[in-house]
Amino acid sequence: MAWATDLWVLHMQLMFIVLSILYCAGFASPGITSSFVRSQWPSVDIPLDNEVFAIPKGYNAPQQVHITQDDYDGKAVIISWVTMEEPGFNEVSYGLSEHHYDSSSYREVNNYTFYNYKSGFIHHCLIDGLLYDTKYYYKIGSGDSVREFSFKTPPKIDPDTPYVFGIIGDLGQTYNSLSTLEHYMQSEGQAVLFVGDLSYADKCEYNDGNRWDSWGRLVENTTAYQPWIWTAGNHEIEYQPELEETDSFKPYLHRYTTPFKACGSSSSLWYGIRRASAHIIVLSSYSSFVKYSAQWKWLEAEFERVDREKTPWLIVLMHAPLYNSNKAHYMEGESMRSAFEAWFIRYKVDLVFAGHVHAYERSYRISNIQYNITNDSCGPVQDETAPVYITVGDGGNKEGLASTFLNPQPDYSAFRESSYGHSTLELKNRTHALYHWNRNDDGKRVPTDSIVFFNQYWTGISIRRKLKKQHSNNRTMDI
Ligand SMILES: [Fe+2]
Repeated sequence: MAWATDLWVLHMQLMFIVLSILYCAGFASPGITSSFVRSQWPSVDIPLDNEVFAIPKGYNAPQQVHITQDDYDGKAVIISWVTMEEPGFNEVSYGLSEHHYDSSSYREVNNYTFYNYKSGFIHHCLIDGLLYDTKYYYKIGSGDSVREFSFKTPPKIDPDTPYVFGIIGDLGQTYNSLSTLEHYMQSEGQAVLFVGDLSYADKCEYNDGNRWDSWGRLVENTTAYQPWIWTAGNHEIEYQPELEETDSFKPYLHRYTTPFKACGSSSSLWYGIRRASAHIIVLSSYSSFVKYSAQWKWLEAEFERVDREKTPWLIVLMHAPLYNSNKAHYMEGESMRSAFEAWFIRYKVDLVFAGHVHAYERSYRISNIQYNITNDSCGPVQDETAPVYITVGDGGNKEGLASTFLNPQPDYSAFRESSYGHSTLELKNRTHALYHWNRNDDGKRVPTDSIVFFNQYWTGISIRRKLKKQHSNNRTMDI
């Protein structure tokens, strides 16, 4: 099989060369507004009696199973599920081979009410001390309601370990949402970076919690098998004083946990993790981030903890984009941009992913940190030290597409298209990553925006070393 490996390596090298040329050529060229117009599927929630929301068989069977990383470095997983009739069995059995379980874990069960809705029993079980890069099988439930799943832990933290992330946002539970999920499952994605707005239950009368339950069942085919890294969006806030519901993020926080304590955060809404060769920072667009706030102080400390020698790829997630040229939600990320953009430049963030706008957009490397009220210098400029900003709020929820972009296309916008899809980010090594945005063309998954990203930290070092070497060679020749 050596020839097949060689062929694959050659194929990858050619792809890097072609995409690198396209990337370099595209950087100085005008941005692209895609002319693709998708045929509209109805932007309505799939009926609750559809088979995609089927309740698993058996009394009190576990449902809505999902996992996420539950420590800083990827050796712990929290497994969550819901039982509807009674608390039932709150134990996960797990092991290294199918149907053979030699360890078990317990933790907590909670539930909540929201106006006239009463949730099922929400279980969260931590399993830790796991081996890296290892497949685990797990079992939840009891009697004839037992269900079995599996997941694979990430490789150990290493600057050159390859890893593939999917990026999905604003998903909801329409036929377009289902198409996005099905297309993502065809990818090689090993974990999902979810950029907020999960179920859109808040768009239903009285924020119908049954739509949280149906969403949990819709996504279980992926969330039970690989971690989704959660970011909260505006549809998670659910602040409804007219229903006497004034605890913001109540259903979301009961149902979806994050490893915020492991990184010194004081809130589940902002936190950091390290996974394979990436350091992921999750921010909350709908919590205070002004100077000296808890989120601001935590982020200042978290950026100092980032070690690019171990995790070269520095990725930030949030819900409201900092750069967006769609008329929908235009400028809503401006206050966070003014609070944090200077840090993004200083710490050489590679990529910033957001959702919220129901369209796709990728920026060039740009910054707007030179704002000075007396010299008119207040627009984004090309900046090789800045991150690329990508909006992937196109998962397919019931609010439909954001189809009106600003005209003409601003200089900072590299590619934009108003249709549904998801992204994949393939971290190849410490210097290169291959990125695709995949459009949902009815029934097909179509890579539409593809690019090679050069690491902001390591590529800079390589270039400096090369220049230094050239400089010293020239001096030697001069002598
Ligand atoms: Fe949103």
